[in-house]
Amino acid sequence: MPAALTDLPPLLRELLDSGQFRDASGALQSIYANISTEEVLALYGLVRQLRPRATAEIGFALGVSGLAILGALEANGGDSRHYVCDPFQTTLVAGQGLAHVRRAGLDHRLQFFEKFPEEVFPTLPPLQFAFIDASHLFDLTLLDFILVDKRLETGGVVGFHDLWMPSLKKVVRYILANRAYRIHPASHAAGTPKAPSAYERLAASVKKILAALPHSNRLFAPEILQPWPGFRLGNMVFLEKLAPDTRDWRHHVAF
Ligand SMILES: C[S@@+](CC[C@H](N)C(=O)[O-])C[C@H]1O[C@@H](n2cnc3c(N)ncnc32)[C@H](O)[C@@H]1O
Repeated sequence: MPAALTDLPPLLRELLDSGQFRDASGALQSIYANISTEEVLALYGLVRQLRPRATAEIGFALGVSGLAILGALEANGGDSRHYVCDPFQTTLVAGQGLAHVRRAGLDHRLQFFEKFPEEVFPTLPPLQFAFIDASHLFDLTLLDFILVDKRLETGGVVGFHDLWMPSLKKVVRYILANRAYRIHPASHAAGTPKAPSAYERLAASVKKILAALPHSNRLFAPEILQPWPGFRLGNMVFLEKLAPDTRDWRHHVAF
């Protein structure tokens, strides 16, 4: 069942409704860098559905996505834990993400590391869900994915935010082309792509013709052969792990 605003922790609702938070000095500031209300509901709904025992997150900021995950874990009950890495919680947001979790009364489920994920992930327990919204650089996001994948159980799900960015699109293309993952249907609750323009429709038709040419995969970039709109994604995706990694050492699919 899709999540409703009334399911969310009251503080998270307040942040989303007002678009503001109180900083350490008590002054009102606009919330920033966070996922949207539609994405919060999709994230909350998926964590409710998956009922994970252990979840992880890379990139916390003011804790909007974190409160969605923590709120869903709380609603699920049991003794699940959320492990979060963000090396810039103090320098970027003066600890306000953590303050929100305390105010929401959800800190008993959180283990927070003000560290880079590569220092933390090898120590985490097996995970059933993870969410990545951190550096947004291609190589560091791929590193985040690799670290998550090493802990993620088969059947587990990893989410990525900011698919408007070429770096994030490339990471998702890599995973879908090379790893045993598929797009989880909950991705489509997280926002729909905007309808393609007349130019984009024309470009897609031309690309289809090019893809049909002999040896097209040696001649054209994957972006030409499989244009991004064909993935039918909005700004957030959830990828489900289908199997452990058993690739041959020579495996490589262009992405
Ligand atoms: C877009 S914000 C995350 C917003 C959050 N998902 C939300 O909805 O409230 C990105 C966060 O990633 C963190 N970050 C940047 N580079 C990072 C890195 N290399 N590893 C981990 N976190 C990083 C930043 O400190 C920032 O808090």
